[in-house]
This record gives sequence, C-alpha cells and structure tokens, in this order.
Amino acid sequence: MDFDASDLTLQQAYKLMTGVVVPRPIAWVSTLNAEGKINLAPFSAFTFVSHAPPMIAISVGMRNGDLKDTARNILARKEFVVNVANHALLGAVHQSSFEYPPDVSEVDALGLAVHPSHHIQTPRIAQAPAALECRLHQCLELGREPSRLIVGEVLRFHVRDGLAIDNKITAADLDPISRLGGPNYATLGKVVTIT
Ligand SMILES: Cc1cc2nc3c(=O)[nH]c(=O)nc-3n(C[C@H](O)[C@H](O)[C@H](O)COP(=O)(O)O)c2cc1C
Repeated sequence: MDFDASDLTLQQAYKLMTGVVVPRPIAWVSTLNAEGKINLAPFSAFTFVSHAPPMIAISVGMRNGDLKDTARNILARKEFVVNVANHALLGAVHQSSFEYPPDVSEVDALGLAVHPSHHIQTPRIAQAPAALECRLHQCLELGREPSRLIVGEVLRFHVRDGLAIDNKITAADLDPISRLGGPNYATLGKVVTIT
C-alpha cells in the first residue's frame, strides 16, 4: 500500500510518521518561564545530532496556532534541560504532557524533586537517571504550521552514580522508555550484540 504525502490530511500524515518512526526516545524537557516557574513536558521527536560538540535536537509542534510553553521558554531563555526518564517514571512522563493551569508547575503537580544545574539556571529532575544541560544552538522552523526544530548544545551530562562505567552506559541499567504510534510506549526489549 502506498500513500502519496500530498494526498494526506495533517492527521493522516501525523499518524503515519509517528507509526513508522519507532521506537522514539523521549526528551523530558525542563525549562523556566518568564516568572521563573519550572515547566516540564515530553518530546519524542528527539535525537542526537552531533558529538563534537555534543548536540541534540527536539521538534516542538504548535498548539492551536501558538508556540508550546517549552518552545517559548527555550527561545526566551536560550537554555533547557533534557531529562532522560526510566520505566519507573513513565506515568509521570505521560502526565507531564497534560495541560496544567499556568500557575501550576508540572514538577509540583507530579511530586517530583529538582536539582540545580551547573551551567544554566534551569533545574533538572532529581529522579531522572540522566540529564543533559543544554544551551540553545539553533532553531529552525519547518513546515506550513511550523514545527520548531530546536538544536541544543550539551554543556554537561548528569548520569546517576554507578550508571556510567568508563563513559559506557548499559541500556538495561538505564531502563529507558520510548514512544510508539498512538498512546503506546515501549520498554527495552531483547538486546542483540553484533561485534
Ligand atoms: C510521550 C510523548 C511524546 C511527545 N512528543 C512530542 C513531540 O515530539 N513534539 C511535540 O510538539 N509534542 C509532543 N508531545 C506533546 C507535548 O508533550 C504536549 O503538547 C505538552 O503539553 C507540551 O507542553 P508545554 O506547552 O509545556 O511545552 C508528546 C507527548 C507525549 C506524551
């Protein structure tokens, strides 16, 4: 079966994209708003794009014609943290995507704790096994209802004690989660090693 992209509605294209590009790792992004309140939301359009210097990218779509809070905060403050959640945090990751009243921080609503960052003002999530302090490198607007492809340079890696041995992280110890099409997630399956 073939689908010509020019024949698809926005919703159809979205369903195909999010069904085909799987599993997607999840950037659990903390940012600070204008009042200094912490915002937290998941983004599965997420990958690393450079290692020298280390850079990652997330793609943030629009909501009812407006920028999402995460994109607005990053563009204003030029910084953010990508927290990496594990299986134990899956419920909190999902719930952090809900819309909360403007005066309520997802971090407080979900009973999460934060640690200060080293290079930036935005805190990281204490319960996350890894977190990347990022400075905004570039923002590209892509598409008709433009998504913001936000590229961040990683200034500091935080990795839970014992998780990185000789800079190597065993995936099973990280116990990562990923997003599939629809309301579905996956945990780490069988690991296949080819040398
Ligand atoms: C697992 C998961 C992954 C998501 N990935 C994305 C994404 O890649 N891009 C996006 O714009 N929204 C994504 N969303 C939706 C946002 O998390 C949601 O719109 C959120 O409310 C944005 O929060 P903000 O307004 O505080 O930035 C995702 C939601 C979930 C649950």
